[in-house]
Amino acid sequence: MAQKAAEKAPAFFGQQEYAKGLDGVIACETHINYIDGAAGKMIYRGYDVEEIGERTNYEETAYLLIYGKLPTQSELDDFKAKLISYRSIPPEVIQVLKIIPTAKTHPMSALRTGVSALGTFNPDAEEQSIENYEDIGLQLIAKLATIAGAVQRIRAGKEPVEPDPSLDHSANFCYMMTGEEPSEVFEKMMDLSLVLHADHGVNASTFSSMVVISSLTDMYSAIAAGIRSLKGPLHGGANEQVIYMLNEIGSADKADEYMDNAIKNKVKIMGFGHRVYKAYDPRARIFALHSKELCEAAGKPELYEIAKRVENKVIEAYGEKGIFPNVDFYSGTIYHCLGIETAMFTPLFAVSRVAGWVARILEYLPQNRIFRPRAIYLGEKDLQYVPIDQR
Ligand code: MLT
Repeated sequence: MAQKAAEKAPAFFGQQEYAKGLDGVIACETHINYIDGAAGKMIYRGYDVEEIGERTNYEETAYLLIYGKLPTQSELDDFKAKLISYRSIPPEVIQVLKIIPTAKTHPMSALRTGVSALGTFNPDAEEQSIENYEDIGLQLIAKLATIAGAVQRIRAGKEPVEPDPSLDHSANFCYMMTGEEPSEVFEKMMDLSLVLHADHGVNASTFSSMVVISSLTDMYSAIAAGIRSLKGPLHGGANEQVIYMLNEIGSADKADEYMDNAIKNKVKIMGFGHRVYKAYDPRARIFALHSKELCEAAGKPELYEIAKRVENKVIEAYGEKGIFPNVDFYSGTIYHCLGIETAMFTPLFAVSRVAGWVARILEYLPQNRIFRPRAIYLGEKDLQYVPIDQR
């Protein structure tokens, strides 16, 4: 009844239009990121993401997103040194990750618990100056990689390792997951992935962190909200689902039949389509190139072949509707070839996107207005209360 009434509800309500899922609604002004959905272009602070992806590193990208300019060498050195100094986490947080069933729960659940626990050990967590929000934001950029690394080690039945101050952010993150310094290829691909996932408009997890911070709560609560949203299969969890699908297909010669059935039965194909892009996601284009070379280098050329056939089938069926691969489609093949556990794909996304969440929060706070939308009321009115013994 309520659903039918909702469909009849006036699309125009009072002074505001109703848009399901806030589709197309402008929620804020920003200088951080712009997506040209028709052209399949995306920019970080004016720079094309394809150029940023190939020419910078995660620290430089995080600095650009937060401070609005590419750093000088001394600014980058200072920023890197600060992040390195922030990497360690209280041993009690490691204990929390060991007390909860980290090896059996989704790693994103462990990650959000780790961030929440971390906040309780910061005596300045509730201090509301923009400087403190910024400082905690940088701490969380540094520490999220440490927490995610510890989660992976505990899931593997191994002791978490201390951060290595001699390694850059991406290399140190790989080290804290595996216990070994990464190969050059591993580090390069991890860094590229962290750069490409760092920010992307007002996506659900970024908006979640902005909505939470808009009540002037603490930074840990806002970032934990971003993690909670990113975990969902319709958002950051899609890269995990893509690998499950490719593994289910199993071989390139079965891909066409599998996809014909999926398309005929209108099965949602993860890794395709996007609320904003009606063309190829530029990040997917970059990942697709590296996926081919990595799958071949890892002796898994068929994984790329399966993915390519899936892509061709989906574009053949839905390309005219603007449905193309998004960032999640090929990123999973890269992580898989790097030997990363599938369940850890979304935590990798969070370790990157935390820079975007922090940048957006710091941009929004000086112009803060608590997010408080409205709803179209479809329920009944003026009902008379009936005592329970008369119902
Ligand atoms: C992202 O990078 O957050 C995803 O593409 C989802 C989105 O932008 O809505």
